Amino acid sequence: MSLDPAMIGWMSPDPESYIPPVALGDVMRSSGVGEIVESNHPDFAVGDRVRGMIGWTQYLVSGGEGLSKVQAGIDAETLLSVFALPGLTATQGLFGFAKPKAGETIVVSGAAGSDGSIVGQLAKAEGLNVIGVAGDNEKCDWIVNDLGFDGAINYKTDDIAAKLAELAPKGVDIYFENTGGPIQNHVFNRMNAHGRIVVCGMIADYGTATPNPGPNWIPIIKKRITIQGFAMPDHFGDVPELLEKLTPYVMAGQIKYRAHVLEGLESAIDGLNLFFNGGNRGKLIVKL
Ligand SMILES: NC(=O)c1ccc[n+]([C@@H]2O[C@H](COP(=O)([O-])OP(=O)(O)OC[C@H]3O[C@@H](n4cnc5c(N)ncnc54)[C@H](OP(=O)(O)O)[C@@H]3O)[C@@H](O)[C@H]2O)c1
Repeated sequence: MSLDPAMIGWMSPDPESYIPPVALGDVMRSSGVGEIVESNHPDFAVGDRVRGMIGWTQYLVSGGEGLSKVQAGIDAETLLSVFALPGLTATQGLFGFAKPKAGETIVVSGAAGSDGSIVGQLAKAEGLNVIGVAGDNEKCDWIVNDLGFDGAINYKTDDIAAKLAELAPKGVDIYFENTGGPIQNHVFNRMNAHGRIVVCGMIADYGTATPNPGPNWIPIIKKRITIQGFAMPDHFGDVPELLEKLTPYVMAGQIKYRAHVLEGLESAIDGLNLFFNGGNRGKLIVKL
């Protein structure tokens, strides 16, 4: 089963969010990959592998709604790390909203994370100058040396303004925002005219009592910046098209990933904290 930072939001009783909260006592919502162990359903046979919103549970009784069969040859780790939420989010956010053009400069925050690492690699494959932001040197090394990003900023230890000026001398055309936090104002201040900011996540503010006030709006007018927030449940109907877009990059070997696999249902609870202290190295998955 997949662990995702959004789970923290799903546990808060906000009725105005994009998805209803998980009620106390309910099984925690999560996507996952499972195997049919018993079936009275004509479309599913014992041994079939399926994906869908399975939840934090070892066994699920289902009428088949929302479950789809997993193509043979794709292991659960690759599926959850690339072809499920991380890859779909990266593809929708980058191609659906950021509209990348070769030669442009993109900054990706949360760049060593599961969706940020795919955003950066897709942008690199499209010929952009790709700058990633991450919270430690090992992650910065990984995105540059293994994934091919053009540069990395350690938002905890680097002089962010100086490093950004060095890596984006012609300014920033696209900001793919996964985190918020101190990097946000610095990138906003370097946005070029007609820049696009795609707001995918704000993990730095998920646990704060008073969210960061964010940048001033005047530059949005002066530079004609587009800012677009999005949430993947709005795009689940587009999954076939998103996979059609993403798959050729994966097949061409342009998308690498790493999975951080925890063992056993009980590990999920402490596992979630890894998102907030930066302890996860790639896609967080719990193996049952
Ligand atoms: N809009 C959507 O539909 C959608 C879908 C999927 C994900 N998301 C969002 O996208 C973001 C990334 O999700 P993911 O699943 O790929 O997780 P992830 O990036 O694999 O893990 C979260 C990472 O966030 C970083 N982080 C934690 N606290 C931070 C802080 N205060 N400031 C800056 N960075 C911080 C940590 O990395 P460092 O070590 O680099 O700090 C941590 O490893 C999340 O905000 C998530 O909610 C949105």
